[in-house]
Amino acid sequence: MLFPYQIKSEEAYHQAYKQSIENPPAFWSAIAEHFTWKKKWDDVLTWNFSEPNVQWFKGAQLNITENLLDRHLPTKAHSPAIIWEPNDPEEHHRVITYQKLYEKVCQFAHVLNNNGIKKGDRVCIYMGMIPELAIAVLACARIGAIHSVVFGGFSAQSIADRLYDAQAEYIVTCDGAYRGQKDIPLKSVIDDALIGNRTVKKVIVCTRTRTPVSMLKGRDVWWEDELKKVETLGLHDFPAVAMDAEDPLFILYTSGSTGKPKGVVHTVAGYMLYTHYSFINVFQYQPEQIHFCTADIGWITGHSYIIYGPLSAGATTLIFEGVPTWPDAGRFWEIVDKYRVDILYTAPTAIRSLMGFGLGPLHGKSLASLKVLGTVGEPINEEAWHWYNEQVGKKRCPIVDTWWQTETGGILISNLAGITPSKPSWATLPLPGVQPILVDEKGEEILGNNVSGNLCIKTPWPSVLRTTYGDHERCRTNYFATYPNLYFTGDGAMRDENGFYRITGRVDDVLNVSGHRIGTAEVENAINMHAGVVESAVVGYPHDIKGQGIYAFVIYSGAHGDETLSRKDILTTVTRIIGAIAKPDKIQFVSVLPKTRSGKIMRRILRKIAEGETENIGDTSTLLDPSVVEEIKRGKL
Ligand code: WT7
Repeated sequence: MLFPYQIKSEEAYHQAYKQSIENPPAFWSAIAEHFTWKKKWDDVLTWNFSEPNVQWFKGAQLNITENLLDRHLPTKAHSPAIIWEPNDPEEHHRVITYQKLYEKVCQFAHVLNNNGIKKGDRVCIYMGMIPELAIAVLACARIGAIHSVVFGGFSAQSIADRLYDAQAEYIVTCDGAYRGQKDIPLKSVIDDALIGNRTVKKVIVCTRTRTPVSMLKGRDVWWEDELKKVETLGLHDFPAVAMDAEDPLFILYTSGSTGKPKGVVHTVAGYMLYTHYSFINVFQYQPEQIHFCTADIGWITGHSYIIYGPLSAGATTLIFEGVPTWPDAGRFWEIVDKYRVDILYTAPTAIRSLMGFGLGPLHGKSLASLKVLGTVGEPINEEAWHWYNEQVGKKRCPIVDTWWQTETGGILISNLAGITPSKPSWATLPLPGVQPILVDEKGEEILGNNVSGNLCIKTPWPSVLRTTYGDHERCRTNYFATYPNLYFTGDGAMRDENGFYRITGRVDDVLNVSGHRIGTAEVENAINMHAGVVESAVVGYPHDIKGQGIYAFVIYSGAHGDETLSRKDILTTVTRIIGAIAKPDKIQFVSVLPKTRSGKIMRRILRKIAEGETENIGDTSTLLDPSVVEEIKRGKL
């Protein structure tokens, strides 16, 4: 059997779960035995959550790309590793076999090497969804450089902040990217991000859109020119650099409740093991299947379930450059039929948005190849769940509702497709090795069923974040200090009579907009950059498609009294500072914000108002001036 650790029955799940909790080292080392190691481990697990210090497979050496590529060559050299569907359906798709991918990764590893990049260096990758993005990621992993992929929708300022935080010396980018009807001038954004930057030494630019770009002498080089040098020498292999199990594999920035994004660090061995294990078990992957995860590689979902998880299993992973609604809202279904996709993994926001187009786009689509459907990123409402089940899965495909986070590296709570029961809008049960607990405000464990509380995890799973780049203390205070000796997720959850979990959403000042995490403090900082803004407060409110919308209360003293113009100016500012994804959906101008006597903004009240609550605003007695509430209520948009 290819995956002897693939769970094939509900009973086997409970058995695996029990073993994983009773003896984690025995459980995980048995799985690890199936991978390629340059040197085996001395210790499976040493840990404490107080520092935190978590080490899996200490003493072991490996290279993750040997496990994703070299390992599969004897049996899968000519099987497709990547299928690429371009933005424009008229353009030719590409199929890259495992042999080809291996060669391309090795060749680009040479390119990185020739440009002075070595093990431990930070490489920022800012590209669209083309195979070269996956190749760049894997080439970094091959030489031991730490990749930091930045989503193509982030602004120059956001990139500059991330480059600085990671002290990145290298960038891989494209001239531009296609997304639906848009052309995004990636290189020009990078040029803006690099104004005043003294750290970046090289920018490697891959051709995609042929958008005119300015190439700086000595700094900027073309991907294709660099590749040619390697090809001329006939180089097709690059020895995989030996990495310690706990060496960093990548940094991925994510928002928290403070203004500054955190660089979540994942390490080689644990991340490899857990993304593999969760991939084959949650989706019940079978050899030869085609896996289509619609996320962008710029988010953790793309890292774990477009690149690392599927390739570690020898699967065919589909990379889609475009958007679900272009040229029309039938694009996903067309892709499913075109390639006979087996597993479709997408976000509730995409499902809700496609639902809005009615059944027309599904007409004439067979979808008969689909076996498993998945969702991720936010709670899925029952209506969307049923639509997905009936219209897409035709009631014959199990749906997995997968709960996890950038920090968890892989799926922690989910049903296993067709193996363990599903329950609409419930993520259900933890994967083996994962021990969720609910705690109250004081950190006391809430026992029993039919309860709710703050969701924590008790013990380390292999892909728990190890640190936040350059600031370990921040990692401790953010995740491991709220409740001593527990990993705190920032989410609230309920547990039912079966022990199933339902994630109810963030309990901190973090928004989830279309499955993208956005800190309210970050949006406020961006709004406050606008010259006319005195102060602002940002909260979330229920949004039919995005899940959560961004509602900004702004005290404005701008010169021109035209509110529409002022709103546009503020939106432009937010797009400049963060990116279009953080643009508020509503901006309400107010003359004061509700504050306590000590000057703290009472978001609880603003949240209620934004949600449309008029009666039960809650206790306002601690407000400096309770009458402001009425004024703000009157101005609600
Ligand atoms: C936050 C993590 C992990 C991939 C995408 C988002 C929310 C994620 C679910 C789900 C309910 C979910 C949580 C979590 N979330 N999946 N299945 N049900 N909520 O990654 O940006 O790190 O955000 O997304 O609130 O904390 P992320």
